[in-house]
Amino acid sequence: MTTRLLSDPADAARVLRSGGLCAFPTETVYGLGADAQDASAVDRVFEAKGRPADNPLIVHLANVDQVSDVAVPTPLGRQLLRAFSPGPLTIVLPARSYVSRRVTAGLDTVAIRIPSNPLALALLAATGRPVVAPSANRSGRPSPTTWDAVRDDLDGRVDAILQGPATDLGIESTVVDASGETVRILRPGIVTLGDLQDVVGNLVTEALDDAGAARSPGLRHRHYAPEAAVRVLTASADARPAGDAAWIGLSEPPAGYAQVRVCQDIEAYAQVLYHALREFDARGVSRIDAEAVPAVGLGVALMDRLRRAAAG
Ligand code: TXA
Ligand code: MG
Repeated sequence: MTTRLLSDPADAARVLRSGGLCAFPTETVYGLGADAQDASAVDRVFEAKGRPADNPLIVHLANVDQVSDVAVPTPLGRQLLRAFSPGPLTIVLPARSYVSRRVTAGLDTVAIRIPSNPLALALLAATGRPVVAPSANRSGRPSPTTWDAVRDDLDGRVDAILQGPATDLGIESTVVDASGETVRILRPGIVTLGDLQDVVGNLVTEALDDAGAARSPGLRHRHYAPEAAVRVLTASADARPAGDAAWIGLSEPPAGYAQVRVCQDIEAYAQVLYHALREFDARGVSRIDAEAVPAVGLGVALMDRLRRAAAG
């Protein structure tokens, strides 16, 4: 299959409406889109990514009116939608019975998200149907933040890529479960604990234990770890510069690293992290020293992704 590069969301919508797979930019990372109501297109998403069938997909919607087509909007769900949609929050709600079990991996809940990226919204509006979209990487690779990273992973495996600029935020949406009486954070992401606390009173941060893993199947699976060994450094004294090592962080490293990425602030660090990991791998560095950040605000999600990269 030849993967077409598209620039017009109307062309991308035609691909989705005819049962094809098309990757597209969101404000967080690129997603791999397919018509949520087309069983064989949904199957092809799992195939193209090499994704385990027990990891459910996020259903992307153009607007709040579409939510009740796929999910039961609970009172907490409505509150979250009002405060954070469109934007980088994914909300798990009770699923309508006709949502395919392939999409939900057999759960009775469904994850929904209304992205804010204008190209994503134009595509969703033109498609006029719910669109599943996991991150557009091969399973086990970092989420793509540019269209060429999508092409590196999925060329020949998907019908098309809607080209946009590099994504603004660089790491994935926050996933919360609002199907019950409390809001549970299942995956830390761009929307912070503090942002959520400003809106909802009863909030639970899921510990990453067995119960948490059962609720959020994605957390069970191996996440991206680069070829190079990643160390998360909590003190700059631990830095070990070497001609085959890379540094990424907020501070200037000691001299001697082969590759260096110094980020202005935590937002910039999150924005560039996945891109930098792919670049370091492409250049064959043997070790990556990643400077830790305080685990507050966006730092919680950034530290989560750094620890997962280091865990491999
Ligand atoms: O920012 C994002 O969320 C990106 C863009 C493309 O929207 N998408 C993304 O999708 O990161 P994906 O498939 O890579 O991650 C979806 C996460 C997984 O951890 C999955 O297990 C969880 O959402 N999830 C999906 N449906 C769920 C459900 N019904 N209950 C619990 N967790 C669910
Ligand atoms: Mg993913």
